[in-house]
Amino acid sequence: MSRVLVVHAHPGQQSFNRALRDALLDGLRAGQHEIEVSDLYADQFDPAMTAAELYDASPPAAVVREQARVSWCELLVLVYPVWWWGPPAILKGWLERVLCLGYAFRYEIARNGYAGLLAPRRAAIISTASADPRTYPEPWQAEVQTKLVPAILGTAGIETARQLALTEIHQYAPPEVFADALAAVGTFARTIDLSRPDNQE
Ligand SMILES: Cc1cc2nc3c(=O)[nH]c(=O)nc-3n(C[C@H](O)[C@H](O)[C@H](O)COP(=O)(O)O)c2cc1C
Repeated sequence: MSRVLVVHAHPGQQSFNRALRDALLDGLRAGQHEIEVSDLYADQFDPAMTAAELYDASPPAAVVREQARVSWCELLVLVYPVWWWGPPAILKGWLERVLCLGYAFRYEIARNGYAGLLAPRRAAIISTASADPRTYPEPWQAEVQTKLVPAILGTAGIETARQLALTEIHQYAPPEVFADALAAVGTFARTIDLSRPDNQE
């Protein structure tokens, strides 16, 4: 049993991402994990950084609440659609504001680099994209899609242990694509094991 924070970033109640999130939560409940959900649109999380938090050491209450959830969890699961090769702005803003300097990482002069402060937490990423990334004209597009968020988390000391990148998710996809994706997320939730080595699916 683990403490799991699910961060969900899709505005649509009828979206496929919502169905994936619900399948994930069902699977996690079956595994008797303790669960918290940050539903960024439902919570009206403001992704815009303020000057005060950028230059003061004291983040506002909405950010402190999210940091408390991150501190509580052992496993962070992000569920989002790929929008322009990356996470939706609301999730990018959550990462910018919540995983801030001083809370998630610090600068170490001696090694001229950052040290993550949130280890040994681990992350799992479930994303959907309409394209087949192998057909992107530029190789960096597929790279950004799967590596940007793990890089951000990694700076905070959070290792991305599992990544389920669902592709060719669009309205013209055959029904079995959606059924297979939901089944994959169910399996994903039931087999979450923090001791497992990294794997990409
Ligand atoms: C603003 C926007 C940008 C998008 N950018 C991409 C993209 O870069 N690559 C891609 O494969 N799909 C892209 N898509 C398609 C979405 O990833 C796709 O519609 C979504 O994953 C389907 O899940 P949903 O039904 O839950 O929304 C984009 C969609 C929107 C609205």
